[in-house]
Amino acid sequence: MANLNETVRSSGIDFPGHLHTRQSLQYAQEFKFCDTDTVIITYPKSGTTWMQEILTLIYSDGNTLPAKTIPNWLRTPWIEHYYCENVLVNKTDHRILTTHLPYHFLAKPLKQSNAKVIYVARNPKDVVVSFYYFHKMANFLPEPGTFGEFLEKFITGEVNYGSWFEHIKEWESHRNEFNFLFITYEELMKDLRKSVIRLCNFLEHPLLPEAVDTIVRHCTFANMKENKMINYTLIPNEIMNHERGKFMRKGVVGDWKEHFTQEQKQAFEKIFQEKMNDSNIVLNCAL
Ligand code: A3P
Repeated sequence: MANLNETVRSSGIDFPGHLHTRQSLQYAQEFKFCDTDTVIITYPKSGTTWMQEILTLIYSDGNTLPAKTIPNWLRTPWIEHYYCENVLVNKTDHRILTTHLPYHFLAKPLKQSNAKVIYVARNPKDVVVSFYYFHKMANFLPEPGTFGEFLEKFITGEVNYGSWFEHIKEWESHRNEFNFLFITYEELMKDLRKSVIRLCNFLEHPLLPEAVDTIVRHCTFANMKENKMINYTLIPNEIMNHERGKFMRKGVVGDWKEHFTQEQKQAFEKIFQEKMNDSNIVLNCAL
C-alpha cells in the first residue's frame, strides 16, 4: 500500500493515507485490549521508537535477539496502522502495542481492560524540530515549507496527527482511568538506567542488574542508529528518502535552540503557558 499523497481525515485530524485507512482507524477504535497488553502512547517524534526498543528488551529479559531480528513495526505495531490486524493474528498475550491516537479515539476500548499504558512526552520545541525534519524525509507527509511555516501549523494543530497540546492534555487529564505511567524523553536521556528500572517496576517485570545493563547499552542513540530493525533503513527511498535525512537524526535534548529565533522562542513559550495553564503536566519547555 503506497498512497503517499493521500490523507485520511477523522474527527478533524489528518492521518497519512500511506499508513491509515478508514477501516484501520475504525479497527483501532474497537480494539480488543487485553489485561496483559502494554500500550505505548506518544505524539509523533517524542521517543516512540526508543520506548519500543526498551520495552522489547525488558520483556525479552535483556535478550537482544528480537530487537535485532524483527522490525519494530512487527514486534510493537501501531494499532491504527492498516497492517496491524494481520500482525496480531494469533497474538493475544503480552503484546507491546503503539499508538499516536488522541485519547478520545481509544478511551472506550482501552477502559475495558487493565492494560498498562505508558505515555512518553517530549519538550514540544524539540518535537516540532524533529517533526519538521521527518516531514522532509517521509514522502507520506506533506512538504513542511520553511521551519517558521511549519512551526505555525504545529502550534495551531494543523499538522498530521493533530495538536500536540490537545494530545498530551487529553491523555494526561484522563490518566486515572488507566494503569498509567507518564515518562519523558528528557528523563530517558538524563538517566536511562533509572528509567529502565522505573519501567520494570511499573510493568511488574523485575530484571537482573546484568539485563538492565544490556538494555542500557543496547538503547543508546549510537547503537540504535545502527540497528536496521529500528532505524527505518529497511523502508525504501520512495517512502522514506534517506538522502534527505535520517530517522535516527540527532537524538539530543535542546536541538530547538539551533532552530528557533528569539521571537519564535518567546511566542512559543507564551502559547505554551496559555495552553498548558489548566494542566498538571510538569514539562519545562524553556529548557
Ligand atoms: P531527533 O529527530 O530529534 O533526533 P519517534 O520515535 O517518536 O518518531 O521519535 C524520533 C526521535 O527520537 C528522533 O529525534 C530520534 O533521533 C530520537 N531517538 C530515537 N531513539 C533514540 C535514542 N536511543 N536516544 C535518543 N534519541 C532517540
